[in-house]
Amino acid sequence: MGKREKFSSRLGFILVSAGCAVGLGNVWKFPYMCGRYGGAAFILIYLVFLLILGFPIIICEFSVGRGSQKSCAASFRKLEANGARWHHYSYFCMAGNYLLMMFYTMVSGWMLYYCYRCAIGEFTGTVLTAAAVKDKFTDMTASPGTLIIWTILSIILAFGICSRGLKKGVEKITKIMMVCLLVLIAVLAIHSVMLPSAIEGVKFYLIPDFQSIIDNGIGNVVFGAMSQAFFTLSLGIGAMAIFGSYLDKSRSLAGEALSIGILDTFVALMAGLIIIPACFSFGIEPDAGPSLIFITLPNIFNQMAGGRIWGTLFFLFLSFAALSTVIAVFENIISFAMDLWGWSRKKSVIVNIVAIIILSIPCILGFNILSQFQPLGEGSNIMDLEDFLVSNNLLPIGSIVYLLFCTTRNGWGWNNFIKEANSGKGMKLSEKIKWYMTYVLPIIVVVIYLKGYYDMFSSKGIVYMVPWFAVAIIFLGVVFWMAFSRKRKKL
Ligand code: PHE
Repeated sequence: MGKREKFSSRLGFILVSAGCAVGLGNVWKFPYMCGRYGGAAFILIYLVFLLILGFPIIICEFSVGRGSQKSCAASFRKLEANGARWHHYSYFCMAGNYLLMMFYTMVSGWMLYYCYRCAIGEFTGTVLTAAAVKDKFTDMTASPGTLIIWTILSIILAFGICSRGLKKGVEKITKIMMVCLLVLIAVLAIHSVMLPSAIEGVKFYLIPDFQSIIDNGIGNVVFGAMSQAFFTLSLGIGAMAIFGSYLDKSRSLAGEALSIGILDTFVALMAGLIIIPACFSFGIEPDAGPSLIFITLPNIFNQMAGGRIWGTLFFLFLSFAALSTVIAVFENIISFAMDLWGWSRKKSVIVNIVAIIILSIPCILGFNILSQFQPLGEGSNIMDLEDFLVSNNLLPIGSIVYLLFCTTRNGWGWNNFIKEANSGKGMKLSEKIKWYMTYVLPIIVVVIYLKGYYDMFSSKGIVYMVPWFAVAIIFLGVVFWMAFSRKRKKL
């Protein structure tokens, strides 16, 4: 097998990892969660989680990647102690990446489609009513054909870029997209805060209202903020670890993780700053939830001077954010077969294009033909199920796995981990945080995970509560089995 590819520059690594982190989580989920959970108060909790949970875990992922020089499909087996069982987590990791792409590519397709719709002027015209804008969204989701076409477009675009290799494809294109994205953000945010009475929105965004947290249920908000912190940093399923595996030892990992975390947080905060003041300026509540950017915002662009241009630029910004993540996760997916079975990049790309197209179909049909299937309670659909399994289960569980893998002797072990994390120039992780990472962090995650489950299902009745709680316990059981048992040596 040839030598592992490397990034051509440090900036390339930072922008590609930030591209993986910056995505729908920042531009779609974060603003609507903010709007729903009361703005600044939610942001505060979210920022605390990023720092106390996200930061140490992202360093674990990068270290495992760099230490093993493999994707998560093979890294655990390579680094674990003799007879340990951590390699079983590879299957969860791989499943997590596929499961994420099963709905993510569809929503990325929505972004591309909305960019196109704005550009051709579908959302401009004085006769367009709010109800008509909403109909345009429901017409889109009701039509499997439209959804499939735009999903396939986003899949082919991203795989096309990955097929050109790490340096010439992923690194080169992501760098360009990220720079464009940052320019677009600046232009859009300045425009948004200068709209009439936008200042009300800025206040909502910056002054915490703790009452709304109580109204929404503290458990829900804290679980939401924690899941969002994992989601936005792409933690728990090896999506970041892969970029560690393309890295040389010249820089320590804490400093790099910090730059990526700051870039990611900046984009999320700015996305909120673009969307929320615009809502206030046009007298619209920002608490619409997931449909905020597809129904509420096009309405706003319709009333705004130059709305066609602003709308197109806005959806272009969202498309860049979404595609940079899809490309990064596809790079990871492509590397599974390359690491496990020595496939060529080309073969892996071709097989995975077909696989992902097929796998994204259930989510698409969940909006129309299969809408009767409501696995998480009334009104939910297949996308909600996939999102819930990844965001609220695999990511927190996987984060515990990475933590325990890096800190216990059954796994890779603290000494190996800290040596890897700290080799190279730059910020170092202190030895003192060992007890915190080994004992405190996993317990925090488990407690919030179970409490979140309880809050989420207790109102939905026993029919949902019992099976879903069983799922949570099985997940946790598997983690502890991997962490604390070993195969016996044959005599
Ligand atoms: N971080 C990505 C986003 O914010 C989502 C993601 C989660 C990507 C987990 C990879 C792994 O959209």
